[in-house]
Amino acid sequence: MTMAPHPALEGTVALVTGAAQGIGLSIAAGLRAQGARVALIDIQDELLADAVASLGGESQDVRPYAVDLGDLKQAAGVPDRVAADFGSLDIVVNNAGRRGVHSFEDYPLDDWQRTLDLNLTAPFLIAQGAVRAMLSSGRGGSIVNVTSVAADLAFKNRSAYNASKAGLVMLTKSIAVELGGRGIRCNGVAPGIVETPINAEYLRTGPESAAIIAGTPTGSWGQPEDVAAAVVFLCTPAARFINGTIINADGGWTAGKGY
Ligand SMILES: NC(=O)c1ccc[n+]([C@@H]2O[C@H](COP(=O)([O-])OP(=O)(O)OC[C@H]3O[C@@H](n4cnc5c(N)ncnc54)[C@H](O)[C@@H]3O)[C@@H](O)[C@H]2O)c1
Repeated sequence: MTMAPHPALEGTVALVTGAAQGIGLSIAAGLRAQGARVALIDIQDELLADAVASLGGESQDVRPYAVDLGDLKQAAGVPDRVAADFGSLDIVVNNAGRRGVHSFEDYPLDDWQRTLDLNLTAPFLIAQGAVRAMLSSGRGGSIVNVTSVAADLAFKNRSAYNASKAGLVMLTKSIAVELGGRGIRCNGVAPGIVETPINAEYLRTGPESAAIIAGTPTGSWGQPEDVAAAVVFLCTPAARFINGTIINADGGWTAGKGY
């Protein structure tokens, strides 16, 4: 008789931001399926309750945290709260993000600031708090930042988003080189175009739908679980030698031009 394989993340504690829906919820579900205990962070408390219900309900292993990560003081406190509630912190996924859409010449400073705060400064603060918890536990850990193909290929009218994601890539590498020798790996996953509640209608009916498909060598946009699979892999011991890398989960969008 063969034994069922041991879940790769059994006994670990994972913090996932922007976990109420879309890619973040899929990541939380993927980590949970591998045995991790999961803290779901999001600003939308009703959706967060639904997300927790979809993972079997609130318990010692699944807890919601209604937090506005754009409030940097609140963001900075999240790792300690999670570590105190769960007893440790081993995995962090910085996934929450926003996209302001404004032409460059009219880009409002407050939108620029809000985008940089949520997409770059909050991940910095959360990773910093997590690193301190991981170093003091002596267990090490894994941090994964959800970046974007926009870190490499600028999207029009999204200068703050593009810049924030490029910054997040370099933050990822900075953490990797500084902490790799102390048992903490840091990597990124860069989604291409992925269908999530916020853009599903636009993808299916918007004027750029055909161009998006034509620009993706695999012939369609992705689903949240396509990104989650890469994130979960990076958190497992199988990825122990992978540090400071960005995996593009984009169907080949950034590999070249298909036309
Ligand atoms: N969907 C795509 O095509 C795509 C492509 C490239 C990168 N990404 C990146 O993937 C990540 C997830 O994207 P998604 O499409 O699932 O987005 P989404 O908008 O569907 O989900 C983002 C989640 O973050 C939460 N959130 C937003 N502001 C918050 C705040 N201030 N505090 C706490 N939580 C907050 C939202 O409530 C939401 O649940 C983002 O970082 C995004 O930039 C997405």
